[in-house]
Amino acid sequence: MKITWLGHAAFELELDGVTVLIDPFLSGNPKAAKSPDEVEPDLVLVTHGHSDHLGDAIDICKRTGATLVGIYEIAVHAQNQGVENVEEMNIGGTIEVEGLEITQVPAWHSSEIVEDGEIVAGGTPVGYVVSGEEGTVYHAGDTGLSMDMKLIGELYEPDVALLPIGSRFTMGPKEAAKAVELIEPDVAIPMHYGTFPPIEQDPEEFKREVERLDVDTEVVILEPGESYEL
Ligand code: NI
Ligand code: MN
Repeated sequence: MKITWLGHAAFELELDGVTVLIDPFLSGNPKAAKSPDEVEPDLVLVTHGHSDHLGDAIDICKRTGATLVGIYEIAVHAQNQGVENVEEMNIGGTIEVEGLEITQVPAWHSSEIVEDGEIVAGGTPVGYVVSGEEGTVYHAGDTGLSMDMKLIGELYEPDVALLPIGSRFTMGPKEAAKAVELIEPDVAIPMHYGTFPPIEQDPEEFKREVERLDVDTEVVILEPGESYEL
């Protein structure tokens, strides 16, 4: 399993020979490690409608024929925009696509898609657990800390947790470290920081907070474009 951080909340997973893009906010992302034309996903997972997550998902799916996975409202929006292959789901559900198990889990945030000042689609924000033979990854999406994370850890036992640490819109380092304590993954990779000045954050602070806890989790800090292999 290979996990590449594309900057912000965008990740490319290579799992059981399937390429999964999560939250491909690439154009307009000052830290993007790839352009929307450089990705060839099989699946695109969208955590919520904000432009720094939905990003280029619709255009990428239209160009590549990749399947877009989203909560019902996002899936319908994508379909209306001309995406051919869509998997709609909702929190708590698991689907099997391309041989991978994908579960939508809760995230505490908001989700409206706003275009030109108008709300064009809604829905609830989510996180994803993606599981295959080679391992299990939890992408938390944009979220505050919640006890739900303990259930995610217990039920799905993720090897890797991708956690926002930027604060202001999501958890900060202190809350994300507490999340690690609840989830107990083998590896935690921080995300959703450093993209823009309002979410400037030192990932080493997150690492120190985790090291202070009684957990065996290794914090892996990536640069945009860097990969972690497990
Ligand atoms: Ni958001
Ligand atoms: Mn965000």
